[in-house]
Amino acid sequence: MSDIIIPDFAVVPRHVGVIMDGNGRWAKKRGLERTKGHIEGAKKFREIGEFAADCGVKCVTFYAFSTENWSRPKAEVDAIMALFADYLTEAIDRVEEDLKKGIRIRFFGDKDGVDPRLHALMDEVEDLTRGNDRIMLNLAVNYGGRQEITRAARELAREFAEGKISEDAINEQAISDRLYSAGLPDPDLIIRPSGEQRLSNFLIWQAAYSEFWYSDVLWPDFSKEDFLEALKAYEKRSRRFGNV
Ligand code: FPP
Repeated sequence: MSDIIIPDFAVVPRHVGVIMDGNGRWAKKRGLERTKGHIEGAKKFREIGEFAADCGVKCVTFYAFSTENWSRPKAEVDAIMALFADYLTEAIDRVEEDLKKGIRIRFFGDKDGVDPRLHALMDEVEDLTRGNDRIMLNLAVNYGGRQEITRAARELAREFAEGKISEDAINEQAISDRLYSAGLPDPDLIIRPSGEQRLSNFLIWQAAYSEFWYSDVLWPDFSKEDFLEALKAYEKRSRRFGNV
């Protein structure tokens, strides 16, 4: 369990989205290479994911690498992919620990667009942790919200062409059911550190009614206390979903 006291929240978000931003600036501030920021960022992903479970959150989706991030310098992209590979190999080694902690790991994004070895590791980690149900940690890799919606539309078109569904069956639920997040509640809360206040193509369909929480802290400095601040702010929000 956690080393810090977790308040008895009246309401806890079921699904939290986290945009892990500010790694590069964190490194630059210290005169380090950007890659060092990503290494620290990856550590935070583990820490905050586990802490979220202690807080009673059932699902966290972390934005790790977008479909647009491929345009970064090759050395940086390679370093991030190497970090994923390290993380996945480690996750396979720690499968017993994840079982004990009840951590299920999944990936959102186009796996076909990443290195086949990485793809295979992702599938393996998903398979090995499938039965764990204390918390689900989704890592969005090679993910883009528009790409995700386009993929769902294409799938619906295919099913329609094959006569499996009627035009009337193409509704909001049918689209939600064909997203990576199928079956999950929409994110109640989206956290973006590092001072930016935009969604950047993250869960754009699912975030229709999400609450947002921003902070100036750079992701590698993001602490459990910051996560609690976000949960406290969420607790005070009045969610009306278009109602009065
Ligand atoms: C955004 O910060 C961060 C990324 C695009 C990469 C995030 C990747 C990780 C945290 C490592 C992934 C590994 C695991 C295992 C989760 P930025 O580089 O855009 O920062 P900046 O805005 O300060 O330049």
